[in-house]
Amino acid sequence: MIFKTLGRTREKIPAIGMGTWQLDTNSETLTALKKGLELGDNFIDTAEIYGTEKLVGEAIMRRDDIFIASKVWPSHFDYDNVIKACDASLKRLGVKCIDLYQLHWPNYTIPIEETMSAMEHLQKEGKIRHIGVSNFSVKEFQEAQACLSHSDIVSNQVEYSIIMREPEEDGVLDFCRRERVTLIAYSPFGSGALFNAKRKPFLDALAAFGNKNGLTPAQAALAWLISKEPVVAIPKASTEKHVLENIAAMDHGLKIEGIDEIERISGRFRKLHRKPLASRTFVRKVLKHTKFWHGYAEKKLGKKND
Ligand SMILES: NC(=O)c1ccc[n+]([C@@H]2O[C@H](COP(=O)([O-])OP(=O)(O)OC[C@H]3O[C@@H](n4cnc5c(N)ncnc54)[C@H](OP(=O)(O)O)[C@@H]3O)[C@@H](O)[C@H]2O)c1
Repeated sequence: MIFKTLGRTREKIPAIGMGTWQLDTNSETLTALKKGLELGDNFIDTAEIYGTEKLVGEAIMRRDDIFIASKVWPSHFDYDNVIKACDASLKRLGVKCIDLYQLHWPNYTIPIEETMSAMEHLQKEGKIRHIGVSNFSVKEFQEAQACLSHSDIVSNQVEYSIIMREPEEDGVLDFCRRERVTLIAYSPFGSGALFNAKRKPFLDALAAFGNKNGLTPAQAALAWLISKEPVVAIPKASTEKHVLENIAAMDHGLKIEGIDEIERISGRFRKLHRKPLASRTFVRKVLKHTKFWHGYAEKKLGKKND
């Protein structure tokens, strides 16, 4: 198990946590999460929009040694709704405090000062321990940080993987490194796209590398990610087998030469890389200025969290 320091804090979290977006809520996924916890992987990522907070609550069974990261959806970014959303998440999770509470996406329709003020209030009340953001550009991060009077934003959760390397190009990785902000890499397998038939040549090259080094392709992809600072990854896995495999990627301690070879493979198959969120430009320019988030939440939130 490899641990990394969270932001500028003294806290250590596992370099590979467990993501829960699109995780079905059934006995198999519950067993898988519990298995991860049993193995000492005490970092779970969820969000109010995922509908998995209750499942996470069931898996952790009120234990307070689990590092829980959750997120507030942008339609709840006005002051009162941030507080309400957090209270509802605490209830679903069955805990008194969320370790890392993240703004899920920026939302320009609500002043960021108002949202951050609510986040600080939650922190003061002891309902959240650390403040994080997700899908924030460097500029958006700086604007949010400037609104906080007594705490640092400890993390930015963005898509980053061997097949989607945007954080290396848009400055987010460099910024996180320089400012000691943890980069939480989401979709470390491109939401499963790494295993698509379309990427077979890429996967075959990773498998050949893995055979030589005692790693599966999934483990090679994770080992490459966490070899970077200050990156931690949160793969989603529905089965015990996948959870075990992903956690074991932390035990291999790949040498620099191994990482370099994975880097070369990724470079060689650049044409098979995933485009940054297909809708990213659209998201940046349009959706954040509209009521999109609200409509999306209306459709998703209510039903999932019943
Ligand atoms: N902040 C955000 O906006 C945001 C956006 C997206 C995701 N996230 C977070 O990031 C987490 C992970 O991203 P993701 O859910 O998009 O997908 P991902 O982790 O990139 O990929 C998940 C897919 O990979 C498969 N998989 C997992 N482990 C495997 C293994 N060892 N071998 C082969 N296949 C494996 C899973 O299959 P099985 O399910 O069958 O195991 C699933 O199909 C999410 O769950 C969520 O917590 C955050």
